This record gives sequence, structure tokens and C-alpha cells, in this order.
Amino acid sequence: MKIAMIGSGYVGLVSGVCFADFGHQVACVDKDEGRIGALLRGEIPIFEPGLDALVEANLRSRRLSFTTDLAAAVAEAEVVFLAVGTPSRRGDGFADLSYIYAAARDVARAIKGFTVVVTKSTVPVGTGDEVERIIAEARPDAEFAVCSNPEFLREGAAISDFKLPDRIVVGTGDARAREVMSEVYRPLNLNQPPLYFVDRRSAELIKYAANSFLATKVAFINEMADLCEKVGADVQDVARGIGMDKRIGPKFLHPGPGFGGSCFPKDALALVKTAQDHDAPLHIVEAVVAANDRRKRAMAKRIVAACGGSVRGKTIGLLGLAFKLNTDDMRDAPSISIVTALQDAGAKVRAYDPKAMTQARPIMPDVTFCDDPYDCATGAEALAMVTEWDEFRALDLTRIKSLMAAPNLIDLRNIYRPADARKHGFSYSSIGRP
Ligand code: UDX
Ligand code: UDX
Repeated sequence: MKIAMIGSGYVGLVSGVCFADFGHQVACVDKDEGRIGALLRGEIPIFEPGLDALVEANLRSRRLSFTTDLAAAVAEAEVVFLAVGTPSRRGDGFADLSYIYAAARDVARAIKGFTVVVTKSTVPVGTGDEVERIIAEARPDAEFAVCSNPEFLREGAAISDFKLPDRIVVGTGDARAREVMSEVYRPLNLNQPPLYFVDRRSAELIKYAANSFLATKVAFINEMADLCEKVGADVQDVARGIGMDKRIGPKFLHPGPGFGGSCFPKDALALVKTAQDHDAPLHIVEAVVAANDRRKRAMAKRIVAACGGSVRGKTIGLLGLAFKLNTDDMRDAPSISIVTALQDAGAKVRAYDPKAMTQARPIMPDVTFCDDPYDCATGAEALAMVTEWDEFRALDLTRIKSLMAAPNLIDLRNIYRPADARKHGFSYSSIGRP
């Protein structure tokens, strides 16, 4: 099939490259010439394990192309995916749909023959109707159908999530579009791709409901961790104990510094806004958003407490800045709130992250960026583990302690066992464990 992917950001790039890898002919379009130029040279603008090799292989096989020429790509395509950004609108948290609508107008002008237009960006319920209206108004002669096909891939595991999805949700009431979408996803699974067809509005809502539900699980276990600390229980045992119940499931019950990233915070907020607008407030999701914001701010207080109540003039080391491991994404990362609060309290902050320092530099101007975890620990009165990178799991704790000004270890991801850390002479605190 011939596919045009409008928007070569995280979702567009990964989806486009994976479709090409499955044998489709894919044109990835972006209006950013610098980005397209870099991609054509094989330079990948994001860090995602395995993506560079996949881009290279599919460019070589000529199934994948990168272009700024939207009209040419759309005219050729049987399926056009809209994967442009939908950031939170400044002020009210509602999803900013201006990029989607602008892309829909551009696509409308270029459509040739029956074309399925698919929103892959996360868009509020009802957006498909508006995209349909825009295209019909701009091109009354065009033959097209608008579908919703939300993306559930996780950063850091995006390629395997794309290739082995739990389900593929497609929202459409159009029989021809259904056939085309079945063909698009057919190569994904030899026997039967896990395609789930629903109406368009339900598909749009499934994405927000899934992210908000997962965010709720994380927020729930984080509050449970706080309770565990007060009553002397171990949150890891509680999480395992409830997770063994198949109705609850073991995933997304790992306590930490609060959820971040490009999706959970933004999508939960946008869903709250949609629900308020429709007079069906989602009180639970509202509470999740508020609890997570509070939590991110509270993490710095733990570090201050570990330093005896004040960090003024003290050096604090942070290990990990990305919102989670295996990504260089800094969007809504808990590290941002932690750095701001520590600096406001008068601390000097040193930090190390294996991948995210380039992204972090412009948003953390007064932080000293280090070469490795040991460099980061040097002279620090406290070392906080903020992201659970693999390379932080087996540090030489004896060496770390010898480099630090005081042996305070604050493990916000429960990477180490309390007994091990204490054996090495650390004053150790973690999340929700005695
Ligand atoms: C519940 C817990 O599930 C159980 O683990 C605990 O020990 C006691 O309370 P039960 O009262 O049997 O058990 O509830 P359940 O069958 O899970 O359903 C509770 C209500 O929620 C029902 O009215 C059910 O219709 C509703 N429900 C359940 C939903 O609306 N959606 C669901 O997905 C599940
Ligand atoms: C998420 C969804 O999982 C994915 O389906 C959707 O398409 C995009 O949003 P992503 O943002 O890449 O993916 O990260 P995810 O792995 O879901 O983690 C989100 C946040 O929750 C991270 O900050 C992570 O550290 C945190 N988290 C997750 C926890 O604190 N504990 C957990 O148990 C799981």
C-alpha cells in the first residue's frame, strides 16, 4: 500500500518506518526542512532503540522516503496518516488542534482518488468529525473517509510495541475504510492482527481512557507508597500482592517520583477538560493530575530532608533526568521540578543522564552536567536517583561513597535494596519501603 505520514515526530516517524519495514511504500512528510534533511542523511532526531538501523535499511530498500512535499506524497497515497503534534494549549490544558486542522486542509487540497485519512495523533473525541468537515468543505469533489487509529506505543520500546501490539484500535463507520485499514495492518501478524473496529468517537476516547487509567494506576501506587512509609509496610510487596490478582494486573504499579512524558500528563489534563466541557466531570482523573503534580514537587523535599533540612550552599547530584529510562525525552520529566526546587532552596545541582543531557541543557541552565555517575557523585552531599537507567543498577557503591561529601543516597526509583545500600555505609531512603 502507498502511505503518507504527515508529521515525522515521535509517533509519525516510528509508525512510518515500521509500516515501511512491513513492506508498504511510505512517504514521511514534515514541514521542518532541517528535520527532513537530517533524516535523509540518516540522522535520527530522537533516541529510540533500534530506530536508526530500521530507517537505514528501509531508506536503502527505497520503501521509505522523507519529504517536505506534502501535496506530492498525499496525491500518491491510498492512506494518509495525520501524526502531527497535539500539545497542551497554553492556559486551559485543552489539546491544541491547530496543527491537525491545518494538516487536514493541506491534505484536502492534494487528495486524488479514494483516500483514507487517519488521525494517529491523540485527539479529543469529536476531532474526526471536524477533520471530515474541513476536507469536505475544501474539496466537495473528494472521495475520502476519516478514521481514528490511536497509537499506544511507549517511548523506549516503541518498535516492539508497534510490531507486537496488544490491540490495534480503528474507529470508522465506513466499509471501504475498514477494508483499507485491514490491509494496512495485515502484515503485522501472520495469522490475524489484533484489529478492533469501533466507531470513531469511541476510538478517540479509548486512547485517552487508556492513558488516564494507566496514569491512575501509577498515581495510586505512589500514594500507597506514602502510606506504606507511615505505617511501616513495603510498597513493593503491596504492589506484587495486589498485582497477582488478574483483575488488577502487575503492570504500572511501580512507585516513583511521579509520571511524566509526552502523554500521561497532557492526555489526562485534556480528558479532564473534555469531560468538564460535556458536564460529565472525571473527578478521579482530576485527582490523579493534582496528586501527580504535588508528588513531583514533593520529591525535592525528600532530598532536602535527607540533607538535614537545608541544602543551601550544598552540592546535590542527580542520576537520570529523562522522564523514564531508554529515552532522551525531557517533556514533563519529574527531574525538572526537582532541579527547580533544589535551586530555589540554594543548592548547587550536578546531573548525569546517559541520553537526555542534550535535551536537558537548555531547560536547566544552572546545572553542571557530568561525564558519568561517579563524576556526578563527586563532592555531593546527596545523590538522588531520578531515572531508572540500567547503568545505574550496579554502580560501585564503595567508590560512589568515597567520592561524596556526605553519604546520602535518595533512591526515587527503588533501584537498590535498602540493606545493600546501608551495608555500604549510606544513609539511604527510597520510596515506600521501611
Ligand atoms: C468486589 C471486588 O471485586 C472483590 O475483589 C472484593 O473482595 C469485594 O468487592 P464484587 O462485589 O463481587 O467484588 O464486585 P465485582 O463483581 O467486581 O463488581 C462490583 C460492581 O462493579 C458490580 O456492580 C459490577 O457490575 C460493577 N463492575 C464490575 C463494573 O461496572 N465494571 C466492571 O468492569 C466490573
Ligand atoms: C505512555 C503509554 O504507556 C503509551 O501507551 C502511550 O502511547 C504513550 O504514553 P510513555 O509516555 O512512553 O507511554 O511511557 P510509560 O512507560 O507509559 O510511562 C509513563 C510515565 O509513568 C513515566 O514517567 C514512568 O516513569 C511512569 N511510570 C510508569 C511509573 O512511575 N511507574 C510505573 O509502574 C509505570
